[in-house]
Amino acid sequence: MGLASMYEDYFRIGAACAPDRLDKQGMHIAEHYRSITAENCMKPMEIQPAEGLFDFRQADKLVDYAFEHQLDVRGHTLVWHNQTGEWMFKDGNNHVTKETLFSRMKTHIATVMARYPLIKSWDVINEAIADEDNRFLRESMYSRIAGESYIEHAFECAHEANQSANLFYNDYNESDPKKRDKIVRLLKGLLEKGIPVHGIGMQGHWNLYGPSIEEIQAAIEAYASLGLRIEVTELDLSLFDWNDRRCDLLEPTSEMLELQANRYDEIFSLFRSYKDVIDSVTFWGAADDYTWLSDFPVKGRKNWPFLFDDRFQPKESYKRVTHFSRLERV
Ligand code: GLA
Repeated sequence: MGLASMYEDYFRIGAACAPDRLDKQGMHIAEHYRSITAENCMKPMEIQPAEGLFDFRQADKLVDYAFEHQLDVRGHTLVWHNQTGEWMFKDGNNHVTKETLFSRMKTHIATVMARYPLIKSWDVINEAIADEDNRFLRESMYSRIAGESYIEHAFECAHEANQSANLFYNDYNESDPKKRDKIVRLLKGLLEKGIPVHGIGMQGHWNLYGPSIEEIQAAIEAYASLGLRIEVTELDLSLFDWNDRRCDLLEPTSEMLELQANRYDEIFSLFRSYKDVIDSVTFWGAADDYTWLSDFPVKGRKNWPFLFDDRFQPKESYKRVTHFSRLERV
């Protein structure tokens, strides 16, 4: 029985993938996951590298694979300050006006969502809140040109494009109390204005040492109290603390793997206890053979953040995450 089947009564388990990794990872994904997120190929820059030039070849490949294997797809992502063509913000040598920006956003969102009408969950806005304590909105071309209104506009366009889709705000450091409160403030404001936002994507780029379970729980509570659905969208547990730049390991130590198993165990039992509000948990990769963390924050330093090792074999973390009693199962 695969990982996702064990969690059938709780939430959907997913993995991020790229079309050119399907040859290697496809079988493993079909066995253990129920949902796929495009790691990069649905980002604005990939899908519309120049105005009006839509290229769906890579995204189609991933979506076709998913549907052939009865996997859901999470749409990621419609509006982001990163990995978006420069053209979006330019008019000749000048910045675009808000009106032009809004019309380009609308075209992008409508075209992409129309291409994939079966995708039920979309990350409409990615990472709009600032990390710095003294700022609310992230400084970006979007916020510079349109202030907070670009967020509302994006959700409205997405809702117009597909009224049955679940629309998400997605962000990282989502469990940090200060950033969490800012995200709550943003979402509360949107909901009060009647903007169609249905859920929060908690990215979940965490590590062995933080955030604490209490912080993660407090974040789940805070978001759920707004009446929003929760999807954990990009989970990985780095073996290194953020400031730890050591590069000497060719394989993880047994202490690290044990700590990781404990962390995964705690995190998944917390998730299970919130199954009424959590709809899915997606890992930002499928197994340790490939992770963006092997290039970030230290270029070329191998990391091992998942439940499966380089050869797709279950790690101790997997055993702990799937070892909940039948009694607990509903
Ligand atoms: C963010 C984005 C993802 C991805 C990761 C790093 O979390 O939302 O799409 O780019 O960074 O891989």
